[in-house]
Amino acid sequence: MAPSADGARSRPIKIAPSLLAADFADIRGAVAAAERGGADYLHLDIMDGRFVPNITWGPKVVRDLRKLTKTPFDAHLMIAEPQDYIEEFVRAGAQLVSIHWEAATQAHRLIGHIKELGAKAGLAINPATSLGVLDEIMPFLDYLVVMSVDPGFSYQDYIPTSTAKVAAARRLIDERKLKVEIEVDGGVSLDNAPQIAAAGADILVMGAGIYGTPAPADMIGRVRAACAP
Ligand code: DX5
Ligand code: ZN
Repeated sequence: MAPSADGARSRPIKIAPSLLAADFADIRGAVAAAERGGADYLHLDIMDGRFVPNITWGPKVVRDLRKLTKTPFDAHLMIAEPQDYIEEFVRAGAQLVSIHWEAATQAHRLIGHIKELGAKAGLAINPATSLGVLDEIMPFLDYLVVMSVDPGFSYQDYIPTSTAKVAAARRLIDERKLKVEIEVDGGVSLDNAPQIAAAGADILVMGAGIYGTPAPADMIGRVRAACAP
């Protein structure tokens, strides 16, 4: 939701804990902490070792996780051939699916496909990708993912220029009176979340900022309060 003219937000920020930063040997506990803390989404980072230099989960893991919680899943596909897997991840239980602009040679078709399958469609852009490439596709998105680290790993430092990019994306969306939400992913913490929210983010993905802290469930509420309008 856009901030109003005076910069005040009219709706609470949404928080999507990223399981990538959790202890995979206690994934059940990490899912439960997100639910207990009132997370809006669980962010699932899907990596193929090609688009990014890391490998995580396939659809079976998503299907198995789906049995553990009612929290909606936000699947972030960091894979080289997203067209081959979108349907599988939606069927596995993802309510939101984002693909990368850098991996999608036919982004318009794929965004439409995600929506036809009944999920919300997001497009992610890497830090080095300019907002200018989104001119044509923006009206078709449910959400834009502004990557604030190069994707591949949790526990990386937030790239400080990302906040200005979020503000610029907010302006582009509002000028065109679009309903596109802005998700920010990478290095978001209790410290920088208020500035990112004030710049116009709607959804904060948080890995280390939640699972790297002593009380992950409580951190969700603390971040939400710190970003309150
Ligand atoms: C990075 C992933 C992020 C990551 C976020 O490739 O897309 O979702 O898990 O983790 P933090 O918040 O630790 O940067
Ligand atoms: Zn992610």
